[in-house]
Amino acid sequence: TSNNRVRLVEVGPRDGLQNEKTTIPLTTMIELIEKLAKTGLKDIEAGSFVAPKWVPQMADSNEILEYILKYPPTTLNPIAYSFLAPNAKGLEKALSILRDYPSAYSTFSSQNTSPYEPDESSPLPNESESDPNTKKPFVELSVFAAATESFTQKNLNCSIETSLERFKDVIQGGKAHGLRVRAYISVVLGCPFEGHDVDPKRVAEIACDLMEMGADEISLGDTTGMGTAPRTNELLRALQAAGIRKEDIAMHFHDTYGQALVNTAVSLEHGIRSFDSSVGGLGGCPYSPGATGNVSTEDMVYFMESLGMDTGVDLDAVVDIGEWITKEIGKPNSSSVGKAIVGR
Ligand code: HMG
Ligand code: MG
Repeated sequence: TSNNRVRLVEVGPRDGLQNEKTTIPLTTMIELIEKLAKTGLKDIEAGSFVAPKWVPQMADSNEILEYILKYPPTTLNPIAYSFLAPNAKGLEKALSILRDYPSAYSTFSSQNTSPYEPDESSPLPNESESDPNTKKPFVELSVFAAATESFTQKNLNCSIETSLERFKDVIQGGKAHGLRVRAYISVVLGCPFEGHDVDPKRVAEIACDLMEMGADEISLGDTTGMGTAPRTNELLRALQAAGIRKEDIAMHFHDTYGQALVNTAVSLEHGIRSFDSSVGGLGGCPYSPGATGNVSTEDMVYFMESLGMDTGVDLDAVVDIGEWITKEIGKPNSSSVGKAIVGR
């Protein structure tokens, strides 16, 4: 009933770490995921089945998925762990691991409710402790389109049209196995190669295509952080005009220009209740030169709390993780709230 529930999707372990130059040990990645799983977060993006020669840092994602299935972190709520998969090869890598542990994860095929409706009192099933399935993780795949041809070429080495054809197979293959499938659209508010005039109607068209293929939600990526409040507003109007429901949209803001929380406020006014963030403000896209991290989870939780919104996430716990992981990988903590609370 309450319209003040907000779903935060933690993308630190994937978006946050994919661009790091020095190799991050697998044990550190797993430790990060295990720590995050205990903060109340219910969605954690844990890895990426992409070509290792393109994104070497994500090369161990198979081991991460295997670890999650073998030793799921003990948590009160079932957690959905998501992995990027750009093509048939990525899908097959994920499925081949899932086939080895057929009863280690929950699927959505038997669920009537959409996990993406945070207004529901219980978006994820089986929250009762007595159910033996409670702790089983969900596994989710994500495809990633982009709103401009140049970004698509750089990121996926193909045209938008070809990328959508490939995603169709990934989406349908994932759904056939009971997996949720998220679909990103990158550079929706600015492209590193084509500038800030990205056509909201084009974004809406791609979103409609992906929903028709069966995607469970669209995550709109402000990859460059060039988005502003008025253009966020314009974009969300275009999606609404195209018939995309607010429940099916998540916003994915990078904070390069410091506009992420302002754009988040605009999105909240449009009724959006799903937001991506990364602990410590980790991140940056390898194919978006100069782009900095995602808006930090700490800033997001603090902001939502100030508005009386309920994220279910323990602020102090994510602050501690932000401090720990940024030290661990030798980067400054880029969360304003994190730094303020640590320095108090
Ligand atoms: P390609 O070179 O055109 O692919 O890359 P290909 O089919 O010609 O294959 C080349 C090699 O890659 C082959 O290996 C394939 O087997 C291998 P080789 O024969 O040379 O040894 N390969 C794979 N290996 C593992 N997993 C796979 C896979 N596919 C092919 N799935 C490709 C095309 C899509 C593979 C490549 O462009 C790629 O991996 N791109 C990924 C780029 C990426 O990960 N970007 C970052 C994520 S998107 C993002 O960060 C934005 C987001 O955060 C939202 C936002 O902020 O906007 C989501
Ligand atoms: Mg991103």
